[in-house]
Amino acid sequence: MTAIAHRAALLHSLADPAEVGLDASYEYHADGLLLVEDGRIQAMGPAAELLPTLPTGTPVIEHPHALITPGFIDTHIHYPQTGMIASYAEQLLDWLDTYTFPTEGAFADPAKAAEVAQVFVGELLRNGTTTALVFGSVHPQSVDAFFEVAERLDLRMIAGKVLMDRNAPDYLQDTAASAYTDSKALIQRWHGKGRLHYAVTPRFAPTSTPEQLEAAGRLLAEHPDVYLHTHLSENLKEIDWVKALFPERANYLDVYDHFQLLGPRSVFAHGIHLCDAECQRLHETGSAVAHCPTSNLFLGSGLFDLERMEAFKVNVGLGTDVGAGTSFSLLQTLGEAYKVQQLRGHRLHPFKSLYLATLGGARALRLDERIGSLAPGHDADFVVLDLKATPLLDFRLQQAKSLEETLFVLTTLGDDRVVRETHAAGRLVHSRDA
Ligand code: GUN
Ligand code: ZN
Repeated sequence: MTAIAHRAALLHSLADPAEVGLDASYEYHADGLLLVEDGRIQAMGPAAELLPTLPTGTPVIEHPHALITPGFIDTHIHYPQTGMIASYAEQLLDWLDTYTFPTEGAFADPAKAAEVAQVFVGELLRNGTTTALVFGSVHPQSVDAFFEVAERLDLRMIAGKVLMDRNAPDYLQDTAASAYTDSKALIQRWHGKGRLHYAVTPRFAPTSTPEQLEAAGRLLAEHPDVYLHTHLSENLKEIDWVKALFPERANYLDVYDHFQLLGPRSVFAHGIHLCDAECQRLHETGSAVAHCPTSNLFLGSGLFDLERMEAFKVNVGLGTDVGAGTSFSLLQTLGEAYKVQQLRGHRLHPFKSLYLATLGGARALRLDERIGSLAPGHDADFVVLDLKATPLLDFRLQQAKSLEETLFVLTTLGDDRVVRETHAAGRLVHSRDA
């Protein structure tokens, strides 16, 4: 493949601002050049420096009034819930019974799964999300349908079949034994194929028997480079339920810990109502938490304590949690993350927001050598953001006096309209204006 250069403002995170301070946390080139070849980033830097070094004939694509950033990383989302986003319910447990379980039941049909997978991946790309950690349904064919779409587009995606063998309708239950054999077959079929990865995916502690959680632990022990993806400490009634089901465990996280489900490739969605011991254990094991603000507000689950996660040095990524989350857009998700922190008396800095949606997500997924950055050698997964996407955004940004102000406005007003192009492995996979 021949090289292509993209010319625009370039911005990416270099590190967590909580660790290195704001100034050292990012790199920005107002007139930058991103050189892409064979699906990877070859070079990035000031256009004035790089243009003279390009081999003659290298195409240079100009992106007027645009900002290029790494593709966004969604560390928690449910693809079967695409069609039930914005469902009117009480809190988590009522929402699951009333809408979620019946909706997921339809994914026994591979044609339904294929149709929704197509819509779902289209929405990810329209919103600039190039990598996501994805719940399927309990049906293995749901995961086949999702991976087939992702593979065709050569996307870096992580997904898994849900494990649930109790406290759910019969039509949605597997068993400890089938969970093990079906997951193992999916791992063999998909894990490491192209840019795809597998996640062992128990729904949450209340819907798995101890035997099934033990089987999940066995899968992880036998396949140390697959992920573990589940929910943790989202809702107070959920937490009481876990206590009643597992009275011998010290806390909610300890249920997963007991079955050896913690580790550097384990991602726990929500983690709102954690005690210090749980935070400490997340840190010690290198586990990550997916913060899902639109979902937490929508279901009235609670306000995520980001400062505490920083204090305990827990890896945090950002998740939309669609369908409890109300948007596929990580820009909108950052807008809500900001408001959640405001309600906690903490101000989320725009450079921390950039980090959470890109490099922080990549670190939570242990993929920061591959994605989350525009540095040479990384996968060429990036977005072209239109700074004049709407009349109001254009007008507001004309008053912006700094990069951080521009970024803050983008995360407060931005949504899918801002994403002019999405590129994955160097290929254009979404063009807003096409
Ligand atoms: N806990 C268990 N299942 C789910 C789910 O589908 N969505 C959310 N937000 N929380 C859950
Ligand atoms: Zn979820």
